[in-house]
Amino acid sequence: MKKILLEILKKIFWQIAIIIICIAINMYFLTFPSKILGKIIDLLYDVNKNREIIYNYIFLLIITALIALVLRITWKYFMARTTRTLEKGLKDKLFEHFLKIKLTSIQDIKNGEIMSYFVKDIGEIRGLMYKILSGGTRIFFIFIIATYTMKNINTALTIATMCPIIITTYIIIILKKYVEESFKKSQKYFTNLSEYVQESTDAIRTTKAYAGETNQLKKFMKKNKILKKSNISVDLYSTLISTSINICFGFCYGITVIYGSKLVLNTTITLGDFVAFIGYIDLFYTPIYILPNIISKFKRAQISYYRLENVFKLEEETLEIDTSKNNKKISGDILIKNLSFNYPGNIDRVLDDISVEIKEGQTLGIIGTIGSGKTTLMNLLLRLYPVQDGKIFIGNQDINEIELSNLRKNISYITQDNFLFSTTIKENITLFKEYFTDTEILESTEKSIFLDEVKSMKNGLYTIIGERGIDLSGGQKQRVVISRAFLNKSNIIIFDDTFSALDNRTEKSLLANIKNLVKGKTCIIISNRISDVKDADKIVVFDKGKIVEEGTHKTLLKNKGLYNKFYTEQASMQEINILN
Ligand SMILES: Nc1ncnc2c1ncn2[C@@H]1O[C@H](COP(=O)(O)OP(=O)(O)O)[C@@H](O)[C@H]1O
Ligand SMILES: [Mg+2]
Repeated sequence: MKKILLEILKKIFWQIAIIIICIAINMYFLTFPSKILGKIIDLLYDVNKNREIIYNYIFLLIITALIALVLRITWKYFMARTTRTLEKGLKDKLFEHFLKIKLTSIQDIKNGEIMSYFVKDIGEIRGLMYKILSGGTRIFFIFIIATYTMKNINTALTIATMCPIIITTYIIIILKKYVEESFKKSQKYFTNLSEYVQESTDAIRTTKAYAGETNQLKKFMKKNKILKKSNISVDLYSTLISTSINICFGFCYGITVIYGSKLVLNTTITLGDFVAFIGYIDLFYTPIYILPNIISKFKRAQISYYRLENVFKLEEETLEIDTSKNNKKISGDILIKNLSFNYPGNIDRVLDDISVEIKEGQTLGIIGTIGSGKTTLMNLLLRLYPVQDGKIFIGNQDINEIELSNLRKNISYITQDNFLFSTTIKENITLFKEYFTDTEILESTEKSIFLDEVKSMKNGLYTIIGERGIDLSGGQKQRVVISRAFLNKSNIIIFDDTFSALDNRTEKSLLANIKNLVKGKTCIIISNRISDVKDADKIVVFDKGKIVEEGTHKTLLKNKGLYNKFYTEQASMQEINILN
């Protein structure tokens, strides 16, 4: 995290330097109006004699105001640029990191939490940088420049005025602590509420189906009420702070007026100096207001910094982001030897002593009960979870010795999840890889029996799916995903429960196309339907993490085991017509 921050700060070093210089000059110019006003007042005793000098001062006032304006615009501009550059840099790095984190580590992070890293934590760090650059430097220069200018008028008066300012700053820092605590609480309640909203929207179908709206609403209202209460206390503390600041300034003006007028009367200072002095007090208003903010911002950013640091510490897979079409081909021979597995942190054995061999060019069918570990086995083939050495070999090479990005590029895994991004059909098929032509993509949709439907959509391949576009049916979604298999020229193709939402006719044509596609390649078809796996060169039957049967359609039927049972069940469900 430190390295990343330093890297970004290095890039924007000169912009930061410009900001600080502009602010310093800007702050110096801020003392001019009061100073010039004081001078003019002292010259007013003989307007006729001093007319020209007074005009010159007024001219100077306008010029400095204009320069100050230009400086202010300049530093504000650079401020926006630098802090947004920092924010963008952090977001890029964080997202890149998220894509690379090992699945075992990432699955413990909640969805809502991921967004808060991007929005809240990075926002806090940007906010702190903004506050330090704009507020911190301003406070620093105002204190130096204004006290120096004031001291030049009268030291005793300066000390008398500065006392309440320093005392109030101290009081406010303490008060701010309480604001912080109540703010933290309200943040917690807010997160709690947003997570609840997120969860409720995710589960809206279930809620409706079980008529759970009233309960959901009651829970929401309770959480919202707690949030309201804690927000009120935040507001109260904030009001207390602003009131204290106002009281402090009342004191400052009081002291200056009483003590200052005495000094004017005994001619220690001039009337002009006195007026200028009162003007300088105003300059402290902003610093007192922002100093406690910076301190609390610092604390909040510190928490965010540690949170981000912990995320950045999560172990990454050694994986290069895929940018080329060319991959080192790996052979399609797969050998799995006595593989057992349980998910990290779970004692339940999901795979138990699995051994299976598939030669390049063969198709393996996997059939089995739900939750028997079929998908888990595929996850291990993709090394989404750690695999023990000596358990899985691809092309005679231990899977752990194959470069991860190369391994995954060589395997087309068409999942059962059908995860589609809310973007165009094209990007969903290519998974954002830009090197495929539209013709290639259309060809793949033709093979996945999806072309006619794509053509009938108004924007064809560029139709947007999901929230902002059309909603696809289950079968259509599956065919978008299946098109990926026809586009990627991988040596190993896995279909994991991919045909469940297709009607019989589409499925039959698709299976024929898949047969063509996988000629000479290794194919694994996972399904609950006999019709999908019956033509495979080898079929294994999974039950409770074990392979309980292995053979071809014919031999398995003769076995009278689980496979035969599936067959009989499905045949009786009138699927017999497609089995033959
Ligand atoms: N990420 C995970 N963490 C812990 N357990 C899991 C995870 N994914 C799946 N499981 C469990 O592993 C078992 C096998 O799941 P899975 O491989 O998806 O079965 P199948 O694909 O055969 O239906 C199930 O009991 C499931 O609850
Ligand atoms: Mg599965």
